[in-house]
Amino acid sequence: MAAPVMDTSAIPRPRWRVPLLGDVIGTSLRTPVQDTMRQGRDLGPIFTRRFLDREIVFIGGAGLTAELADEKRFAKHLALGVEELRVIGGDGLFTAYNEEPNWKTAHDVLMPAFTQSAMRAYHPAMVDVVQELVGKWDRGGVVDVSADMTNLTLETIGRVGFGYPFDSFRRSEAHPFVRAMIGSLRHAQRKGFQFPLVARLFGRGAEERYRADVAYLAEVVDEVIRARVASGPSADRIDLLDLMLASGALDEVNVRNQVITFLIAGHETTSGALSFALYYLSRNPSVVEKAREEIDAVWGGAEVPAFEQVTKLRYVRRILDEALRLWPTAPGYAREAKADTVLGERYPMKAGQWALVLLPLVHRDPSVWPDPERFDPDRFAPDQVRARPGHVYKPFGTGERACIGRQFALHEATLALATVLRRYNLTPDPGYRLQITEMLTLKPAGFTLTIHRR
Ligand code: HEM
Repeated sequence: MAAPVMDTSAIPRPRWRVPLLGDVIGTSLRTPVQDTMRQGRDLGPIFTRRFLDREIVFIGGAGLTAELADEKRFAKHLALGVEELRVIGGDGLFTAYNEEPNWKTAHDVLMPAFTQSAMRAYHPAMVDVVQELVGKWDRGGVVDVSADMTNLTLETIGRVGFGYPFDSFRRSEAHPFVRAMIGSLRHAQRKGFQFPLVARLFGRGAEERYRADVAYLAEVVDEVIRARVASGPSADRIDLLDLMLASGALDEVNVRNQVITFLIAGHETTSGALSFALYYLSRNPSVVEKAREEIDAVWGGAEVPAFEQVTKLRYVRRILDEALRLWPTAPGYAREAKADTVLGERYPMKAGQWALVLLPLVHRDPSVWPDPERFDPDRFAPDQVRARPGHVYKPFGTGERACIGRQFALHEATLALATVLRRYNLTPDPGYRLQITEMLTLKPAGFTLTIHRR
C-alpha cells in the first residue's frame, strides 16, 4: 500500500468505509469533486477520503487554506489527475515540478506576455473573436452555452497566443482538438482514482484512445509551431510563440509542451467561468440590470469597447469573481510541506506530504462567506473584499505557481460577458437545473439559453 499522504489518525473521515475500496459509497468516477463536496460538508475544514490504496487529505476551510498559502512552508504539489497530465504537458508551466529548471526559465520568458501592456496589445484580436460569437448569436434561437464559450476561448488563445485560427465559429461541430482534449482530460481524471491493475486489465481500449488523443494534440501543436516558423515572427506584435522562439532559452520539446499547456489551460477554465456566469445571470435579472447600467455608462455609444473601457467594468468583473467563487472551474490545487511542519497547530506533515485544497468548499466556508450559496457579486465590492481575511478566495491558485493567465482570462471574459449582456436578452429553459460536468475542470452540462437581440 502507498504511504498515507500524512498522518491521518486525527483527521475526520466519512462514516462508511468499504474494505479495500475505501470511501466510495455515493461516489462516481465522473463526479469526484461534487461527491467530495457532499461528503466533506459535514466533516469540517479538514477531512480525509480513501480511494483504493490511496488516502487523500482535503482542505475545505478558509483558515487552513490561508495557512497553506504560506510560501515559506508550502509549495505546489502535482497530485492525482494533474500529475497524470504530465503525459500531455510534460515540463510545461502547469505540470512542471517545482525543481525542474525549465519552470523558472519558461516563467521568466513568458511573463512579459502577461503584463497590462500585453493585454492592451491582445485587445483588438479578443474583440474580433467576440464579434464572431456575435455573428453566430445574432441569428437568435437556442444556443449551447458551454460549447459556444469553448469556441470563443479556444479561438482567442489560438489566435492571440499563437496566431493560429481554429475557425471555431465556422464549424458545425467542435474542433477535433477540443474532442481530443476532452477525451484526454477525462481519462486523466479517471486514472487518478483507479486501481492500476484494474486499469491495466480492463482499460486497454481506453488507454489506446488516450494515447491517440495525446498524439493528435501534439500533431496540432506541431502544426501551430511549423506555421509560425514558416511565416516568421508576427509582423505587428509579439505573441507567446514569438517570445519562446526568439528567447533561444527553451528547447524544442519544451516549446511544444508550453504550446499544448497554453492551448488547454488557456481556454478550458475561462470557458467554464463564462458559462457559470451566464447561468447565474439568466437567473438573476436584477444583477443583469445593474450590469447593463454600468456597461451603458462606460461604453456610451461605442459599437465595440476600447481596452480601457473593459478595465472600467468593475461590476461585470464582480459577476465573474462571484461565479468563480461558487464554481471555481479549476476546483482545487495541492500543496506540499517544504519541511516537517504542523498544519493548523494539530496535524503533523512531513516534508513532501501534501493536502488538496478543495476550492468549492473553501469558497463556501460560512465563517467567511455569509449565506454562501447565494449568488451576490457585491461580495467583491472593495469594502467587502477589504473586510475579509487574506488568502480565502483562490480560483487562480496561490504563490509563485499561481495562474499566469489570470489577467488574460479576466480581460477576455469581461469583454465577452459585457458584449453579450448589452446585445441580447437571455432566456433560460425554465426546467433546467444546474448540472456540472467534471473533466479535471468544471462546466455546466446541457445548459442552453434562448437568445434575442435587445
Ligand atoms: C478563469 C480562468 C482560469 C482559471 C480559473 C485558472 C486557474 C488556474 C489555477 C488554479 C492554477 C494553479 C494550479 C496549481 O496550483 O496546480 C493555474 C495555473 C496556470 N494557468 Fe490558469 N486559470 C485560468 C485561465 C488561464 C489562462 C487564460 C491561461 C493562459 C493564457 C492560463 C494558464 C495557466 C498556466 C500556464 C498555469 C501554470 C502556471 C505555473 O505553474 O507557472 N490559465 N490556473
